[in-house]
Amino acid sequence: MIDICYATSEPPGVDEFIDVLERSTLAARRPVENRACLQGMLDHADLFVTARCDSKLVGIARSVTDFHYCCYLSDIAVDREYQSRGIGKQLIRETRSPLGPQCKLILLSAPEVADYYPKIGFTHHPRAWLLDGGAIF
Ligand SMILES: CC(C)(COP(=O)(O)OP(=O)(O)OC[C@H]1O[C@@H](n2cnc3c(N)ncnc32)[C@H](O)[C@@H]1OP(=O)(O)O)[C@@H](O)C(=O)NCCC(=O)NCCS
Repeated sequence: MIDICYATSEPPGVDEFIDVLERSTLAARRPVENRACLQGMLDHADLFVTARCDSKLVGIARSVTDFHYCCYLSDIAVDREYQSRGIGKQLIRETRSPLGPQCKLILLSAPEVADYYPKIGFTHHPRAWLLDGGAIF
């Protein structure tokens, strides 16, 4: 049984963030080659939950939220070597903890993990829409 320490914390440094994204596979879907973007993601998000084994960052949840109505859980990532041990679920519980009772958690699933969210209570929303950065209308 491994001992994982969860913290609602300051953002990690950009190198540590990239490292855990890579160790989880989520790096393939995040702009890890663009440090300025990654730094902005760390500087301007509202809520970080980290999971550490000793001092090693093994999981992270990064959210943008008003804490009352909506919380966009943008990135949740668990190091491959630590997956399927309940860390993802606990990161989500800890993310919800400072949110008000009416606050909805919203996320976009990576295709590989689309079956994960219904398993842990998320419902699918058929009318979610995206506008890409720079899209003209
Ligand atoms: C998705 C992710 C965060 C889940 O974290 P985790 O710590 O592995 O998940 P948990 O251990 O809390 O899993 C809880 C349950 O979901 C199941 N599960 C885990 N990954 C799953 C997947 N990809 N598909 C379906 N079920 C999954 C577990 O088996 C477990 O089931 P159980 O409670 O019946 O045993 C993690 O697998 C990950 O980082 N994946 C790669 C990065 C990624 O795609 N992130 C999501 C971006 S939207």
